[in-house]
Amino acid sequence: MASKKNLVANRASLAHKVRYAATRPGRVAPYLKRAARDRWLAFKHPDHVGYYRAVMASDTKRSPEAAVGSQTHERWLALGRMQFDYLLRHGLEPGARMLDIGCGNLRAGWHFIDYLEPGHYYGIDISPDILIAAKETLTARGLQDKVPHLTITGNLTLDFLPDAHFDVVHAHSVFSHSPVEVIDECLAHVGRILAPGGHFDFTFDRTTGSEHQVLREDFYYRTQTLLDLAARHGLAAVFMEDWEELGHGQSKIRVSAGRPAPRADRPVPGVG
Ligand SMILES: C[S@@+](CC[C@H](N)C(=O)[O-])C[C@H]1O[C@@H](n2cnc3c(N)ncnc32)[C@H](O)[C@@H]1O
Repeated sequence: MASKKNLVANRASLAHKVRYAATRPGRVAPYLKRAARDRWLAFKHPDHVGYYRAVMASDTKRSPEAAVGSQTHERWLALGRMQFDYLLRHGLEPGARMLDIGCGNLRAGWHFIDYLEPGHYYGIDISPDILIAAKETLTARGLQDKVPHLTITGNLTLDFLPDAHFDVVHAHSVFSHSPVEVIDECLAHVGRILAPGGHFDFTFDRTTGSEHQVLREDFYYRTQTLLDLAARHGLAAVFMEDWEELGHGQSKIRVSAGRPAPRADRPVPGVG
């Protein structure tokens, strides 16, 4: 599965870059190409969502599966299955209503759509290009009768969605690409749309060292930063230890509204 986490590395530091280049010389040219492209896109799109939408447009043109982070079709299938199996183990019922934030090309979404009752899956994304790819996945899987919602969004205020509606809100590998303002906006509003007893699971790139970002594409947070952010918005947050066991490269936090989440009053394992 995913490689072992390096929790202390600061990937933005010069020392890290030099060490990385020395041990993986073949990756230097692609990195420089990506850095040049990203600088140009950042120049054209000073706001984060506009910038990341442009990154997704460029990446999706080459390969929608690689654009969501899977270099092979096998990995794309495995990562989707991992997300689905995890929520299934946590009691996901076919009658649940689910919001998938940053649904991408339905790597996991197609499993959820297949499993949930018609109309119960709602996928949103900032990228029109990846949503077109999502519709292709839906068609290829023959899931038209499940009539999922697939909607473009420009922010995470979630203002077009109803109160207390979703049992499960999910954001896989989205906050790993988000500055803290985007995460804050999402946490400020997600409580309103969560059904009683519902929860919001999100993954993030965890560091126990200093928080940093690389090319405005990858953001590394300390667990406590995100737990505190959730608490500021009245949400109970729990670090999901059982997700760590799966060996995925990112960590997962679950937040819930309206009642303390299990284990919230105990020292949170994995805090760093
Ligand atoms: C790495 S992909 C993961 C896609 C999907 N969650 C999966 O696991 O296959 C990240 C997705 O999040 C979307 N995204 C990034 N920032 C977002 C934001 N602020 N709001 C909604 N979607 C966002 C990207 O366009 C992209 O489709």
